[in-house]
Amino acid sequence: MPLLAVETSCDETSVAVVHAGRVLSNVVSSQARLHEDYGGVVPELAAREHLRNLLPVARLALQEASVSADQIDAVAATRGPGLPSALMVGFKAAQATAFALERPFVGIHHHEAHLYSPWVKGQPPTADFAHFQPNVSLIVSGGHTLLVHVRAVLDHHLLGSTMDDAAGECFDKVGKLIGLAYPAGPEIDRLSEGGNPKAFDFPRPMIADPKDDFSFSGLKTSVRYFLRDHPGLPDEAQRLRDLCASVQSAIVDVLVTKTIRAARRLRVGCVTASGGVSCNRSLRRRLTAACAGERIVLLLAERSFCTDNAAMIGILAERKLKLRTEATPPDTDILPGWALC
Ligand code: KG4
Ligand code: ZN
Repeated sequence: MPLLAVETSCDETSVAVVHAGRVLSNVVSSQARLHEDYGGVVPELAAREHLRNLLPVARLALQEASVSADQIDAVAATRGPGLPSALMVGFKAAQATAFALERPFVGIHHHEAHLYSPWVKGQPPTADFAHFQPNVSLIVSGGHTLLVHVRAVLDHHLLGSTMDDAAGECFDKVGKLIGLAYPAGPEIDRLSEGGNPKAFDFPRPMIADPKDDFSFSGLKTSVRYFLRDHPGLPDEAQRLRDLCASVQSAIVDVLVTKTIRAARRLRVGCVTASGGVSCNRSLRRRLTAACAGERIVLLLAERSFCTDNAAMIGILAERKLKLRTEATPPDTDILPGWALC
């Protein structure tokens, strides 16, 4: 009973085919280079690019899964949150496909899908819900930083989120200040490997706040003032690496401290992490060490499932159809501001 899933909430056009918890194909076409010159995602360009890419990506996903369109038993797509014009392309195309094939359609919450992506492991990638454990899940992307208590499969509660910039946004904005291309997170990660994280002292906003919310705009501002006072610093290779490592260390400190504290408070034995920033090597190492120290099981999404992908949309949609058989009525619309509760 293969399910076809579509993701177009931001700047990745992705289509996947999943079957019985297994990812048969997951094709992702990233638009990062298209938006690079603008220093961020341009919604109108993203929508046009999704329109151009969706059919070739879908064809490839079906081909890689060795599944024909008439063998598809259900269709799913990201319904929100995301850029309205980008969401519209994938959501409406998926709805129309379901209508034409006379198959059920499921609209999926993008962040709810991230919650279960760390459970997809192995080759072929398969969702291991048989070993599911209640957990605290950290979702860190360019647009969102969320801490969520996942009590059971399809049963979660939002603990906290960012009050201003997301962690990825902070990486990207700091990168822009020091002249790196968008998105700067991967490059800051790379430069940091050769830098001293204690070279410069940057604030760790809200690290001691008992609430599970985050704030990263103050950190970005302090980097701006630091650069005003040290104008030539990014031109010196080693000082640039030290600066990147110091900023990265501040971001990672906050993320790890607050995630572990929530896990301890809620007495869960498992922590998971997903979203583009969870590719960050320092974050992965620090979470690994912190969880080992607390005897907490850590599940980090595999790199291909950290960033936006349709496989996670399909895995959740299949689970929803299986457990609740709830299909989304064919006349529903996108929900760009859909909040996770
Ligand atoms: O989840 P994602 O692909 O897209 C959404 O925002 O939905 O996340 C993209 C974000 C960008 O801000 C990018 O700079 C950041 O993830 N990112 C990283 C790394 N790889 C991607 N940040 C830090 N270190 C990385 N290795
Ligand atoms: Zn995402």
